[in-house]
Amino acid sequence: MSDFTHGFWPLYISVLTLVSIIGTWVFLKSQTTRKLAPGEKPELIEHTWDGDLQDLNNPLPRWWLGLFYGTLVFALAYLVLWPGLGNYAGVLKWTQIGEYEAEVQAAEAQFQPLYAGFMKQDIATVAADPNARAIGKNLFLTYCSQCHGSDAAGSRGFPNLTDGDWLYGGDPDTIKATLTDGRAGVMPALGEALGAQGTKEVANYVLSLSGRKHDTALAATGKTKFAENCAACHMPDGTGMQAMGAPNLTDKVWLYGGSEATIIESIAKGRNGVMPAMAQTLGTTSNKDAKLHLLAAYVYGLSQKQ
Ligand code: HEC
Ligand code: HEC
Repeated sequence: MSDFTHGFWPLYISVLTLVSIIGTWVFLKSQTTRKLAPGEKPELIEHTWDGDLQDLNNPLPRWWLGLFYGTLVFALAYLVLWPGLGNYAGVLKWTQIGEYEAEVQAAEAQFQPLYAGFMKQDIATVAADPNARAIGKNLFLTYCSQCHGSDAAGSRGFPNLTDGDWLYGGDPDTIKATLTDGRAGVMPALGEALGAQGTKEVANYVLSLSGRKHDTALAATGKTKFAENCAACHMPDGTGMQAMGAPNLTDKVWLYGGSEATIIESIAKGRNGVMPAMAQTLGTTSNKDAKLHLLAAYVYGLSQKQ
């Protein structure tokens, strides 16, 4: 018990609870101690119902009284053992959180040997194991699906993990590094440096790289601007650089979108996609390393042709 805003309330609750229980006890006792003297007849109380039903003043049956006292003893024992009286934690120190943590620990301990087995195998081997994939999928649904989608196909700004096209690289170790330490894509805002016309030109050059409809005259002037402003990260041929997370601009895969307007927006305002570091998110959970291993294997498996 906690979270009372004022010290008065725990006391108020405790006193009220105890006074009710003890009061009930005293009342019960006071009303049931009168015994019939030998030979004394139970008193007839003066009413009769339904023609012949009479109200007698017999002592209450013992078993019934016993049950009643039993409930009072139960209530007191309960309040000693478990929280119930204001801030008093109870002899057993039971808490909801404690119970939850014990359950989690038991489950983790149960998985421990299984996880240890997977940790000994490399990521490609784990990815081929249907059991590991099933666990990986559950972990993915818990930790990744809110951004990458439950089918891992991503959405605008959140990369598709199933298509074999990678910002940072798709080999097992790179995938594991990506999700363990996170990634921050840095595409600088170049709108001011290029000006509106320059941005439009370079955008048309970008459109031409993947064979999209574009204005050839604009693209021709955009080409030199690309070499000056973009090639350092996206490479002179526009195929991108995984070390920087700079996407390949020559394929048909777009992180933010391949229309002229969206490309202009990417160039003018910049883009800063952030993949959170899962080593942090998984933080203190036990089996953290094994979970990262299984997640990496699951993601690696998604784009492997089975
Ligand atoms: C808060 C949203 C978010 C969550 C949660 C998230 N990601 Fe990401 N992830 C991203 C974004 C955004 C990127 C792209 C980063 C960039 O633009 O540079 C990314 C990139 C990646 C990449 C790199 C893809 C490539 O093409 O190189 C992988 C792999 C990945 N995430 C896997 C995961 C896994 C596995 C999980 C769960 C353990 C996860 N992500 C959870 C947002 C998220
Ligand atoms: C400092 C390195 C760097 C420079 C310079 C740079 N980019 Fe980028 N660019 C990136 C990165 C990294 C991303 C991915 C951003 C993310 O992950 O959120 C990106 C994303 C993009 C995208 C979005 C691609 C998609 O799939 O939606 C376009 C378009 C783009 N850049 C074009 C350009 C152009 C044109 C220039 C030059 C005018 C340029 N970039 C200069 C690093 C750079």
